[in-house]
Amino acid sequence: MIDLRKLAEPGSIEESLLEKIDLNRLPRHIAVIMDGNGRWAKSRRLPRVEGHRAGIASVREIVETAARLELGVITLYAFSVENWKRPRFEVATLMMLLKEYLRKELATLMENNIRFVPIGRIEGLDPSVQRELRYAEEQTAKNTGLLFQIALNYGGRAEIVDTVNRIMTTLREKEMTDAVIDEAFFGDHLYTANVDDPDLLIRTSGELRVSNFLLWQIAYAEIHVTKVLWPDFRKQHLFEAIIDFQSRERRYGGVEPGEQEMFVEQQSAEGDSEK
Ligand code: FPP
Repeated sequence: MIDLRKLAEPGSIEESLLEKIDLNRLPRHIAVIMDGNGRWAKSRRLPRVEGHRAGIASVREIVETAARLELGVITLYAFSVENWKRPRFEVATLMMLLKEYLRKELATLMENNIRFVPIGRIEGLDPSVQRELRYAEEQTAKNTGLLFQIALNYGGRAEIVDTVNRIMTTLREKEMTDAVIDEAFFGDHLYTANVDDPDLLIRTSGELRVSNFLLWQIAYAEIHVTKVLWPDFRKQHLFEAIIDFQSRERRYGGVEPGEQEMFVEQQSAEGDSEK
């Protein structure tokens, strides 16, 4: 049961936004491209890494809110395969912040029944980071609430290539020489096997790009882009994104439910008049 008192203070902006949300039609999986940390820092004449540090407060609030809304999954894009091109100091700081976050936040993840799972080429990260990630994943493995996926050393194309290689291993091991690969079989070999695809993709800081994030999984996702920079992104902005999501019609390439019947009726009426 969602506890609304934990989601908004009486009389707050959050409360008025929450009233506009249909709690029975929440997205089950929200994916987020957290962008704009650098610009946030620059606008304050701070070093870029201060933007990342400030971004952690947003991570904390959004993950906690997702758990309180009883969403199924939240996936945050924290470090892409392309991000290694950034200055060494920035990369090292990001990794340090990640380790610090995991150490500080583990108790809260446990309290909120959140299961933490990193996705991406985790084996390419520094061993000390891998250790912290493994520890948090193991500690939270039995939690049954929100699944919190964090994409690290992640690339959508890299995931597709890794999936093909995993499929080849399965085919070899199971001697499935005549196998025909379908979408379900492919999906079962993604990093996100057994996880429903995102219904809503949020991107902060205004860019209209998907930046190599969950390329397979966002096939039918609604996209919400906000100009708000990630370090400023709070519960209120998450609620706005959900309201926007609920205003969309999701047709998955079909037609609106009523429209299908109208079309059939029209066809049969035309058929009758031809008789
Ligand atoms: C994009 O901003 C953000 C990132 C590359 C990293 C996101 C990382 C965090 C929010 C902090 C670490 C996360 C955790 C979970 C501990 P940008 O630097 O590309 O911003 P810009 O486009 O304005 O330069």
